[in-house]
Amino acid sequence: MSLHGRVSRLAVLVLAAESVAAQGLIQNTAGRPYTDLGGEWAVIVDPFETGYYSHRFEEKADGYFRNARPADPSDLVEYDFATSPRLMVPGDWNSQRQDLFFYEGTVWYQRDFQLAKDDSRHYVLHFGAANYEAIVYVNGIRVGEHEGGFTPFQFEISEQLRDGENFVVVKVDNRRERDHVPTVNTDWWNYGGLTRPVRLLELDRFFVADYAVQLDVDGDASVTGWIRAGGDRTAAPAAARLLIPELGIAADVQLDASGYGEFRIQADPERWSPWSPKLYDVVVVYGKDRVQDRIGFRTIRRRGEDLLLNGQSIYLRGISVHEEAPAREGRAWSEADARQTLEWARELNCNFVRLAHYPHNEAMLRMADEMGLLVWSEIPVYWTIQFENPAVYANAERQLVEMVARDRNRASIILWSVANETPDHEARNEFLGRLVEKARTLDPGRLVTAALDTHTNRDGVRVIDDPLARAVDVIGINSYCGWYGDTPENCAEYEWRSEHGKPVIVSEFGAGALHGNYGSSRARWTEEYQARVYEHNITMLENMPFVRGTTPWILRDFRSPRRPLPGIQDYWNRKGLLSEQGERKQAWYLLKHFYDGLSRRQIEEQDQP
Ligand code: GCU
Repeated sequence: MSLHGRVSRLAVLVLAAESVAAQGLIQNTAGRPYTDLGGEWAVIVDPFETGYYSHRFEEKADGYFRNARPADPSDLVEYDFATSPRLMVPGDWNSQRQDLFFYEGTVWYQRDFQLAKDDSRHYVLHFGAANYEAIVYVNGIRVGEHEGGFTPFQFEISEQLRDGENFVVVKVDNRRERDHVPTVNTDWWNYGGLTRPVRLLELDRFFVADYAVQLDVDGDASVTGWIRAGGDRTAAPAAARLLIPELGIAADVQLDASGYGEFRIQADPERWSPWSPKLYDVVVVYGKDRVQDRIGFRTIRRRGEDLLLNGQSIYLRGISVHEEAPAREGRAWSEADARQTLEWARELNCNFVRLAHYPHNEAMLRMADEMGLLVWSEIPVYWTIQFENPAVYANAERQLVEMVARDRNRASIILWSVANETPDHEARNEFLGRLVEKARTLDPGRLVTAALDTHTNRDGVRVIDDPLARAVDVIGINSYCGWYGDTPENCAEYEWRSEHGKPVIVSEFGAGALHGNYGSSRARWTEEYQARVYEHNITMLENMPFVRGTTPWILRDFRSPRRPLPGIQDYWNRKGLLSEQGERKQAWYLLKHFYDGLSRRQIEEQDQP
């Protein structure tokens, strides 16, 4: 049967919808034509913000964003990108230069680029992320700024671009402030810089701005979602086109005056899962613009204390992961980094990863889709941020919106986490309650969680009674029995109680050990001590019937300013099951053995009718 014939069989219900918010993030930059602005950028380290607050700022001669050069030997210009040092982009500055290892402040980035400009097209400068705050200038003109170190942002720069020679300057400042998200205290390295890809998108007069394509939330046999067009609205095509050839879908989606349209198309795609990570080629066409994506279709729901993936109960055999490169120091950002990290998780027999404590780079989520790892994705509402400050709430909510906007089409993500280990008080409960509701509104097809570390001891029973447990769909519990309190043997005797009737994930447990440091299992920092903690926490897990998964802390040792112990930590958090070189510690084998057993049981259950 021809493709066209099959289309006639499909009921395409086109629902006009009220217009959507103003231009949001351009979806899937990797799936469309772009110029990669990665590579060597000139940098000026500027701890006193001289290039921004110049005493002659009014003459605008000193702003480094001007990229000024002396026009005459008598001119005074006290900076020069052309003869300044270089740093690689993407990349943090801390791991590229020893003198910047601890640096917190401003670094100015600059690069030139050529462009054959076409005035009928839209040019968008897109950043995968910059930590922490970025101000962007094109040809000396400020085009915008962004706060938050782990989510993408972009600016249309068609007006500021010239045909031929252009330059871009970015002021990146990674200083920690009380009213930031995260705030001044974290247990991870404050890597600063243009830490993810920088791309120049050249978009047609009419283009595909954004889209959502997923299985109907109720798992009914239909593919549902929406398309938002960008660019000029005058003389714009009235419909976009959605192509999923393997499902025989080639559907016109009518758009309203604002360029937005919804669809629901009968189809019964093969479900995506860790044991069968089936992805479909999806193409969205609008005018001459054509965006390619690979999307998996699955459902995730909870039923009481159980978690159901595609309607089947699942136990999440997970591991926590920080965004550090597996084979070098510094922030991870590439496909190769993602592949190595997730291959380690697969070697542990994981079907799940907790990407702590902030949205990881897009390559990681796309790799999780390809390799079949479920994902817990989190915004950096971490520890003691200023919960009573409305500007801090606005920042946190914007980072949540940006995380969901970028990754809504990734089948691997099943959980959005709004916080990690936050103190139980009224302002925090109100702040996080709002974020939970926002996440549900943004994305009804996923579950919302948070990692809690508060519980009450009632007659020796550990009761999960944090008010936030009532707000989320899935409760995360961080518990460091045997490391931050009690002895490892106590863990096996713990009795936990959850009165919420919803799934619980033990989102952190663990202990520190220096790889190769052998000795008594009673001695801290030995591999034997870490293994002893894992042994008894695994017993604890087996005594918690309402637990539907765990993500022990953590896959690999990672950099932390809070861990200076000479000869053991040397500014590494040593709770990894792998050393920073990727070498396995004894506890790795204990967790793998536990997961192998669970995996066999899961397969047996699946085989049963
Ligand atoms: C906390 C926190 C982690 C931290 C870990 C540790 O639970 O969530 O970010 O690294 O404990 O103390 O190592």
